[in-house]
Amino acid sequence: MMTDAKWIDIGPVEQLPAMGARTLPVQGGQEIAIFRTATGSIHALANKCPHKAGPLSQGIVHDTNVTCPLHNWRISLLTGEALGEDKGCVPVIPVKIDAGRIYIERAAALAGVV
Ligand code: FES
Repeated sequence: MMTDAKWIDIGPVEQLPAMGARTLPVQGGQEIAIFRTATGSIHALANKCPHKAGPLSQGIVHDTNVTCPLHNWRISLLTGEALGEDKGCVPVIPVKIDAGRIYIERAAALAGVV
């Protein structure tokens, strides 16, 4: 299970502070932003706002959303969709937690921006 080719181990959950984010460059793919919410859930999105490609990893996490640092669009960490009046969607990368470590789905991580 731990060496499942379907999933990439990106490290322990504790590396991410609550309401924090980090980025992960994936060879051959896009830069990915990993987020941890206040309640401890972990989410991964392409690190590109659907508006003008702002770095979502530098945004503010609140509930299960992140606010883009450039023009304040709110993006759902669950669906990648822009919220409110704004329209757009960023790819979501499936995440699982196993024995305190974070895994992201390999195929989605390497897929590049759709
Ligand atoms: S680039 Fe994210 S809101 Fe404009």
